[in-house]
Amino acid sequence: MVDTSTSICGVKLKNPTVLASGILGVTAASLLRVARSGAGAVTTKSMGPVKREGHKNPIIVEVEGGILNAVGLPCPEPGEAIEELKKTLKGINVPVIASFYGRTVEEFGEIAERISEVKPDFLEVNISCPNVRDEFGKPFGSNAELAARITEEIKNSSRIPLIVKLTPNVSDIKEIARSVEDSGADCISAINSLGPGMVIDIETGKPILSNKFGGISGPAIKPVAIRCVYEIYETVEIPIIGIGGIQNGGDAIEMIMAGASAVGIGTAVWKRGIDIFERICLELEEFMQSHKYSHLDELIAKSHQ
Ligand SMILES: Cc1cc2nc3c(=O)[nH]c(=O)nc-3n(C[C@H](O)[C@H](O)[C@H](O)COP(=O)(O)O)c2cc1C
Repeated sequence: MVDTSTSICGVKLKNPTVLASGILGVTAASLLRVARSGAGAVTTKSMGPVKREGHKNPIIVEVEGGILNAVGLPCPEPGEAIEELKKTLKGINVPVIASFYGRTVEEFGEIAERISEVKPDFLEVNISCPNVRDEFGKPFGSNAELAARITEEIKNSSRIPLIVKLTPNVSDIKEIARSVEDSGADCISAINSLGPGMVIDIETGKPILSNKFGGISGPAIKPVAIRCVYEIYETVEIPIIGIGGIQNGGDAIEMIMAGASAVGIGTAVWKRGIDIFERICLELEEFMQSHKYSHLDELIAKSHQ
């Protein structure tokens, strides 16, 4: 028998697989289904300060090695989303990560405070979405000072452990990681989608996505995600949830060896189905048995030793 459990900020996960934000994370019913399918933890779709429709179709296009998406952060009224979170928390048997975003520094704090009232296991702040930008038109997560101010604002508004989700679309992810750790972040998740990228239909000569550009996710971005997690691990002491292109046990092991304590899975759930969590765990267990590892801790950050 091998032990694949892990721990993030003192919260135990029975296995290291986590549903990433944005996939099957809007309703309590879908989050409960993912938990029943074997995920070690689940993340909600990012909740926002006001109801948002998101972009018009087409919002997703498949490319070799992944997908491009420009869903545009659609979300219901915050009250409705929090009600759904409450329902999820009542029925679930794995930790729940409540993801959210704001449009101003103050708004991040206000939403964090509202969500914290229903006591999710973690807050995850999405400062990395290509669709939400600061006054200069850049995602909040690409500016170390702004990322620090948002982290501080949330820490002043809530006692729930805070995960800060970083974007890979920066010249130095170590600088952002250091700045959010110094401002009180309890954990870092990385990465959000890469890019943005673009796909043109050569018959019409026009971009396929209605938004023209979309974030890239799936296996194509895995090497970038592995490098980011490796660099973040070298920079901070807080735990890391590694996300980006994970679709099998080998990918999860690679991410854990880069320094992640748990792994987020998004596009692979969308493409391969909900039993992906169980399959990854099985492949992880088989690897650990055949390579004589008895506990997941022995794999964490192995590439740094
Ligand atoms: C359709 C779609 C919607 C997403 N929505 C969110 C979101 O609301 N909040 C967020 O933090 N990340 C969101 N993401 C990013 C994922 O959580 C993840 O960071 C990214 O897709 C990389 O992981 P993957 O390659 O396993 O998909 C979304 C991704 C996709 C594909």
